[in-house]
Amino acid sequence: MDIDSNTRVDLIVSGLGNIGRRFLSILDRKRPYLCQKYGLDLNVVGVVDSRGAAIDTHGLDLARLVNIKEKGGSAADYPGGYSDTSPLQVVQRVRADVLCEATPVNMEHGEPGLSCMRHALSHGMHVVTANKGPLVLAYGELQRLARESRLRIKFCGTVAGGLPAINLGQRDLAGARIEKLEALPNLTTSFILDRMAQGMTDAQALSAAQAQGCAEADPSLDVDGWDAAFKLVILANSVLGIPAALQDVSVTGITGVTQADLDRAQAEGRMIKLVASASLQGERYQLTVAPTPLPAGHPLAQLSGQHMGIVYHTDIYGAIAASILETEPVPSAASMLRDLLSIYADLP
Ligand SMILES: NC(=O)c1ccc[n+]([C@@H]2O[C@H](COP(=O)([O-])OP(=O)(O)OC[C@H]3O[C@@H](n4cnc5c(N)ncnc54)[C@H](OP(=O)(O)O)[C@@H]3O)[C@@H](O)[C@H]2O)c1
Repeated sequence: MDIDSNTRVDLIVSGLGNIGRRFLSILDRKRPYLCQKYGLDLNVVGVVDSRGAAIDTHGLDLARLVNIKEKGGSAADYPGGYSDTSPLQVVQRVRADVLCEATPVNMEHGEPGLSCMRHALSHGMHVVTANKGPLVLAYGELQRLARESRLRIKFCGTVAGGLPAINLGQRDLAGARIEKLEALPNLTTSFILDRMAQGMTDAQALSAAQAQGCAEADPSLDVDGWDAAFKLVILANSVLGIPAALQDVSVTGITGVTQADLDRAQAEGRMIKLVASASLQGERYQLTVAPTPLPAGHPLAQLSGQHMGIVYHTDIYGAIAASILETEPVPSAASMLRDLLSIYADLP
């Protein structure tokens, strides 16, 4: 297909770290394929990180940008780049079709992502995001803004990296009542419990997770269960259709799990995992994050410390499970492309 006959879609990418940088790389590598397969020319016209921005309404050179970021530079180092320019300033100044948001999570105020998403949805831009913060804090408001403007907000990378956990629940369980969902959405805790089950102490397992790059320097949000709870809130709102907030989730992390607990579970043929679950009790879902001994035959029990997974128990489709082995953040970054294509491509 001739590139001129493609539909051009202009993108702003906010946040150029592990996810944003890899997303640019995927867009660059796949551009000819996306033109040929979907007739879409995905063109990045603005990017911004914590130090500045680069803007070109004709389209930025993505290979050059990725190179700058891989060397530790900023979008401001791109020829003609702007230092000290915030994501909101870029979203306000640059005309684009989609805001692709990949800045860090902030659960106090959701910034810088939340203001940018509000602005985008009020000014004709769809939103694609990997950032949980704005969704946990303002899911209902963002969906209402999108609905009122006939725009879309897509966020499949927020829950379990590259696993299409949300899409599966929203689309492929059509007509079903979800009686229970169980998820392992947090890599750090799965990795730590996996290593502890192999004989490491909790401190050794945490160090190993940090060395592997799957735990933050401050891992408290993960080990205390909050990251899994954030993801459960997003699943509850988007898949179960309930206006759940963080305070609706009963949260227990893995810090109380001892070697003796793991040994006892193993002797009984069980594996302890940090499970995020929503279970229908009468007409209401009970939302829980807790270390849970899963029987060996459970679809989540045998997943390694580098897997994430989800099981939906339904009234008419039985139990459907999906998992992903994610050893680097490429699938998470690719989930932003999946979201873009779900907005623009003529998918079956
Ligand atoms: N990493 C994963 O595996 C993964 C998976 C799924 C979802 N996510 C989510 O994706 C988002 C990005 O994660 P990440 O791992 O890519 O984070 P990251 O590596 O820390 O990158 C964050 C990016 O945002 C920029 N940034 C930080 N504060 C900013 C500010 N105030 N204004 C403008 N830009 C700012 C940083 O700028 P500099 O480049 O200048 O530092 C960097 O480019 C997070 O919300 C995360 O939860 C991550």
